[in-house]
Amino acid sequence: MIDSAANSTIKNLYPDFIVKEINENLNFYLKKYRNSPPILREAIRYTITSGGKRFRPILCLLTAKSLGKNYKMAFPTACAIEFIHTYSLVHDDLPSIDNDDLRRGKPTCHRMFGEDIAILAGDALFAESFSLILEHQKSDCETKIKILNEIANASGALGLISGQIIDVYFSGKKIDKKKLEYMHANKTGKLITASVRCGAILAGANNDYLEKFTVFSKNIGLAFQITDDILDATSNSKAAGKTIGKDSIQGKNTFVSMYGIDKSRKIVEEKIQYAIKIIKSMDIDRKWLINISKFLLLRKA
Ligand code: IPE
Ligand code: IPE
Ligand code: MG
Ligand code: MG
Ligand code: MG
Repeated sequence: MIDSAANSTIKNLYPDFIVKEINENLNFYLKKYRNSPPILREAIRYTITSGGKRFRPILCLLTAKSLGKNYKMAFPTACAIEFIHTYSLVHDDLPSIDNDDLRRGKPTCHRMFGEDIAILAGDALFAESFSLILEHQKSDCETKIKILNEIANASGALGLISGQIIDVYFSGKKIDKKKLEYMHANKTGKLITASVRCGAILAGANNDYLEKFTVFSKNIGLAFQITDDILDATSNSKAAGKTIGKDSIQGKNTFVSMYGIDKSRKIVEEKIQYAIKIIKSMDIDRKWLINISKFLLLRKA
């Protein structure tokens, strides 16, 4: 009873109409690869179309929408960010990183196509992300460069990769709270911040609002990865679509290993509350950004 009530709330908080449109756009962009070597084309199609919440593109589009823009103009950038996210999952799942067999309820890319193809498909998606923006995003050159800069920095050696490096290098070793937060802010937070900032930049946000969106997204980004840690300790593989319980087996540093589940939940709540407070301080169309923030408190996958 409680579960089904919670599920109906989650449904109301998540913009399913945008997920559908994102998937249609992603399918359209995949057509470009029709002349790629078939195994590469299939590996890219398999990983991009096998589900996922599309949380990052949604954030990008909802941010543009909150500023009164037609969010559809941001689809190329939103989809490009999903390309980067998907590549990061393909590589994250590799035997030499997290060694996972299940992703989005299906066998991981390397389980389907082999490790060599999975590495190369990930590499292709990374480069194709930038190409997608260059070819399809209808903006002036200066705006495009700003967007590309956001995504490149969020993905690189001061962003996602630096977080992933801390994750793998310190697996099985203890780190302090500061390093743990750095790891989460980088491996997951930076791309989430880039998603929001790109939506804001495309919608022409001023510097004051861009700064507020940045603070909002940093809180959302940390809350997102802390929840991922909590789900790894509390969910089940069917609901999450990935193998659960591996963080502790692999000696991963997580908020759960540092603070325990209850305190981690409290930290998530505080961050979401703060994120919502920031959104409420802006003169924008707030509804969906508040909804998606609340969704993070309830998500099961
Ligand atoms: C999983 O991301 C990896 C993390 C950064 C925690 P998501 O939870 O967004 O995965 P999908 O895209 O919905 O499958
Ligand atoms: C993944 O973090 C972060 C990136 C892919 C950048 P996790 O390793 O915790 O993500 P899951 O649990 O495999 O989805
Ligand atoms: Mg990992
Ligand atoms: Mg992983
Ligand atoms: Mg995880």
